[in-house]
Amino acid sequence: MNSSQSTESSTSIMDLLRESTKDLHSSAEGNQFQHLLGSGKVEKDDYCRYLQQLYVLHKTLGELLQERKAHPALHKIVQDYHFDLTCLKNDLGFFNQTAEASQAVPATSELTSAMSRTAAHSPAGLLGYLYVLEGSTNGAKFLAKALRAGLNLPETAGASYFDRYGDKQRERWMKFKEDMNELEFSDEERAELVANAKETFHTFSKIGNQLLNK
Ligand code: HEM
Repeated sequence: MNSSQSTESSTSIMDLLRESTKDLHSSAEGNQFQHLLGSGKVEKDDYCRYLQQLYVLHKTLGELLQERKAHPALHKIVQDYHFDLTCLKNDLGFFNQTAEASQAVPATSELTSAMSRTAAHSPAGLLGYLYVLEGSTNGAKFLAKALRAGLNLPETAGASYFDRYGDKQRERWMKFKEDMNELEFSDEERAELVANAKETFHTFSKIGNQLLNK
């Protein structure tokens, strides 16, 4: 992508987000921790600590989105299922863990602090974090399968988060894309969305490294 595209408002916001984070998606796919997840070879303890990071990220973002839901862009995009922590709670519960006792690694805490700052100065920017978490449902179905096989998990719990939308995944992702593209973001908001999406991808790589003590 050339740099003028970042302020080129003729590019749809979803094309802009995808193109601006393409390389980071490839890096995330290549991250050692993601490989361990995708091959089902992740250690159980590391996997549980990863679920804890996902819980903290979703809980924080969900609360901030809910607090700011009167904002027109958030009002249009945010759906009840964006706040639903049931799968993560059940998955952690399967490993005898209480979701509320989740401990954030430094990378997770840095991102939740950034989310709070964004909520205060540019609520629409919260959608940049949501974009990455929602977009990740596209590749996650196969992770659920690999994790069930590798960690010997039942269909119902342990890795349900990774297939949390089931057969509604495609429909919900298409809706997210359509609704985002119907919104008119200012150049400043577009830049903020991209920066927050990039930071989220970086965070996922850092979380993987921190869980593996690299
Ligand atoms: C082994 C790791 C991964 C694989 C194999 C994978 C695979 C995929 C696939 C197949 C798609 C759909 C592409 C399309 O339909 O155009 C996708 C989209 C996406 N993935 Fe991943 N993914 C992985 C990891 C991640 C991670 C760790 C994140 C971030 C937390 C992530 C975030 C996204 C996003 C945001 C999209 C939507 C891109 C867009 O169309 O705007 N992925 N992924």
